[in-house]
Amino acid sequence: MSESLVWRESYALGVELLDAQHREMVRLINLVLDPAAGDEAGARLDALIAQLRRHFETEEVFLRAIDYPLTEEHAREHTLQLAEFVDLRRSIGRGGGAIGAESRTEIRQWFFNHVVAEDRRFGAYYRRVVCGAAE
Ligand SMILES: [Fe+2]
Ligand SMILES: [Fe+2]
Repeated sequence: MSESLVWRESYALGVELLDAQHREMVRLINLVLDPAAGDEAGARLDALIAQLRRHFETEEVFLRAIDYPLTEEHAREHTLQLAEFVDLRRSIGRGGGAIGAESRTEIRQWFFNHVVAEDRRFGAYYRRVVCGAAE
């Protein structure tokens, strides 16, 4: 099985800014997952964490703006996830060091569980309630 994530248009929420950020996230995750990252792993993870911070903030502002009923739960998930990425960063040390196979699997799973599954729920809410689209 290939380690890399592949962006699919079916993952798109129909919210241009958030979709662009999710696409960029796939690119940054793939750099982190790359087994050849070597000493670069730490810097790549730093870049991903910085992007996640910006993305989560943007997404939470959006969720509040559309009055999404599960905003607080969703934001809590973001906070927990960010803490896990920060822990992982700490665990690989200053210079970098490799990211273990287990952590790579967890990162991929997180992408599918959160970005593809959980984020889609507010995407559906947005299209239905805010845009009035029939699903
Ligand atoms: Fe997201
Ligand atoms: Fe999210």
